[in-house]
Amino acid sequence: MSDTMYATTRILDQDVIDSYRRQGFVHIPNVISPEEVKEFHDAALALVEKMKSFNESGIFTQLVNAWREDPTIRRLTMHPAVASLAEQLAGVPLRLWHDQVLIKQPHNKRPTEFHQDQPLWPHDNKHSSVTAWVALVDVPAERGCMTFIPGSHRRTELAAMNLGDPKSVFEVCPDLMWEPRVTVPLRAGDATFHHGRVAHMAADNTTDEPRVAHVVLLMDAETRYRKQGHPVTDPLNLEDGAPLDNADLFPRLPA
Ligand code: SIN
Ligand code: NI
Repeated sequence: MSDTMYATTRILDQDVIDSYRRQGFVHIPNVISPEEVKEFHDAALALVEKMKSFNESGIFTQLVNAWREDPTIRRLTMHPAVASLAEQLAGVPLRLWHDQVLIKQPHNKRPTEFHQDQPLWPHDNKHSSVTAWVALVDVPAERGCMTFIPGSHRRTELAAMNLGDPKSVFEVCPDLMWEPRVTVPLRAGDATFHHGRVAHMAADNTTDEPRVAHVVLLMDAETRYRKQGHPVTDPLNLEDGAPLDNADLFPRLPA
């Protein structure tokens, strides 16, 4: 056995869970092993050749619902370690909302600006969602790691912000300008888990290597559809209030 304990078997200390619930995010080291990092990193880069990026603004290359295209990425999206950690943090059963391979190309010059995720989603607002952001390369601040505004997940009333516009967050919520920010560099294999309402951003990538991350977006298993445009649900023609419980599209996580 190596000294490093990978997270599949990890029971989180209560103070880690408390910190997540207070701050709206947490950094968990070594969620996946170096061997897994290599396998998933290579699969993510190969997928760029096969899938069209949803975002063409230069912020990132964004492959949405990559798990449905590639069996290797599917294993990461449904990884028992990610599932177990996310459910311990959320404290409720979760199901997959969707996943995204997010690559910031070298010298991309465009940060992902501050936003909360939840207002961008067609979900009722009763529940909390958790997103796992898994680093598939080392991600120091210079390569575009995440920065969070601790406690901002308690701002449940905010309208959607535009992650392409640096002014958007402060127009929607001027108070957030004066809140402390926490930047979380990650080693490959580490992850951050963040609440759907915590304000977060990621700087541009000033390095010569791509920033490769896999992002697993998980929602409360009871989440219902709220009529609002979104690429994942638009093709489904759902009624307002319908449960998002189609097991093929939004599977429950592995036990
Ligand atoms: C990013 O990785 O650039 C942003 C991720 C997010 O908004 O959750
Ligand atoms: Ni986001």
